[in-house]
Amino acid sequence: MNNNISLIGLENIPIIKPGDDLPSIIYNALNENQMSLQNGDILVIAQTVVSKSLGRIKNLNDITPSQEAIDIYEKMAPLIEKSGLPSKSPELIQSILDESKEVIKTEQVMIVETHHGFICANAGIDQSNVGGGGLITLLPIDSDKEAEKIRSSLQKLTGKRIAIIVSDSFGRAFRIGAVGVALGVSGLSPILDKRGSKDLYGKELQSTIVGQIDNLASSAQLIMGEADEGIPVVLIRGYNYAFEENVSIKQILREKKADLFRKERDPKDLEDILKARRSYKFRFSDKKVNKNLIEESIELARWAPSAHNGQFWRYIIIERGKSRENLIKNMNNKLKDDLQGDGKSEEFIRKKVEKTKTNFLDAPYLILLCLDDKDLERYSDKTRIKYEFIMGVQSVSASATYLLLAFEIKGLSACWYCAPLFAKDIITKTLNLPDSYIPMAFFTVGYSIKKTPKPKRKDLNEIIFNV
Ligand SMILES: Cc1cc2nc3c(=O)[nH]c(=O)nc-3n(C[C@H](O)[C@H](O)[C@H](O)COP(=O)(O)O)c2cc1C
Repeated sequence: MNNNISLIGLENIPIIKPGDDLPSIIYNALNENQMSLQNGDILVIAQTVVSKSLGRIKNLNDITPSQEAIDIYEKMAPLIEKSGLPSKSPELIQSILDESKEVIKTEQVMIVETHHGFICANAGIDQSNVGGGGLITLLPIDSDKEAEKIRSSLQKLTGKRIAIIVSDSFGRAFRIGAVGVALGVSGLSPILDKRGSKDLYGKELQSTIVGQIDNLASSAQLIMGEADEGIPVVLIRGYNYAFEENVSIKQILREKKADLFRKERDPKDLEDILKARRSYKFRFSDKKVNKNLIEESIELARWAPSAHNGQFWRYIIIERGKSRENLIKNMNNKLKDDLQGDGKSEEFIRKKVEKTKTNFLDAPYLILLCLDDKDLERYSDKTRIKYEFIMGVQSVSASATYLLLAFEIKGLSACWYCAPLFAKDIITKTLNLPDSYIPMAFFTVGYSIKKTPKPKRKDLNEIIFNV
């Protein structure tokens, strides 16, 4: 039973700086407050101090907004002005995008799913309590791990068995007012599963799961406050719970497919994607591309149709570095020879070579698409061999189109380049690929910094004929 729980704010915690040893600081503050930890105590620690000690701080002045951030800014600015909320700069929006897996809604607020899976406003980025001047704090990358580290140090320092919650305050859908929520936990279960126990009248509970650590975090929030209270650590004493190891905040994040409120797919979305995709031929943003996104896009590209389901496509992901440089150098030597053979001027050749070099070397990812002719049907006559090859090319092209659309869905920009068609021997030799791999295309992939103008399309009456 829990009928008497104490919440004690730890005073005199200094302003935390990157590299500070939080457990020692908390230990010293306990001593200064003439307190010592007892078995079963829970410490709720505000994310801001954890983030600051980890150096999860950025300066907005160092951020270059992408085209996506600028577009969101332009969409949000009038809505923000109307609502009277504080404005968001494109740089702040960019930082929110960098911390997010998915943008869920942008109106006068920006609700995202962070890389951790938290659904919250502004990816948990905080501009308050950091010192101003463009400084922001980002959520810790792994709050469970930080909770675990702090717990283990404090247990060593005090000899007591305790639990730790790293907390933040989030606004809520449906209700006004931010409440404390847990971002990371160590030592106690995130939930209390009451299913199977009996209510006051002996009726078995079928679905009650108590959000244990969120309840604790929100009670601590009453003392921590939001603004200048300066109490980032709250001790909870007298709460009965069972210690549990190997716990994680992930246990309470609802999966997207089980979430009634995540947007259903709208056929209109697909129409938009088909029209929005553009070949991106400018410099890419410096924003790091998560390799998972590339792999997830290729996963989608393999659902393209292919002749007798031959799936002749092979994707080679070429990261930045020596092998890419070597490949482009060898391909460019061939390009030079080809252009000299065509009688092009030195200046023309120099420009062309330079352009391919920057295109292919600067892209965060370069993907080579090959047709594996090993999977083509074998025929005894030249005509059918030729058409089977065409079917292979058509199939690979279908997959390439899926790939470009998948990149669009993932928020990435890309361009299809035909250069590999002209350099089979060089490519297979340099990358040590099987001889059956026929290079078909390169894709440069990354985040855009500019909007690509919409190219003209032929009129429908030029391409549709009714018989
Ligand atoms: C088979 C194929 C090869 C292409 N090769 C190149 C290329 O070598 N260089 C280039 O700048 N763009 C290349 N592109 C991109 C086209 O220029 C682009 O798709 C076209 O201009 C239409 O623009 P959009 O993709 O934005 O609609 C290629 C596209 C395809 C489908």
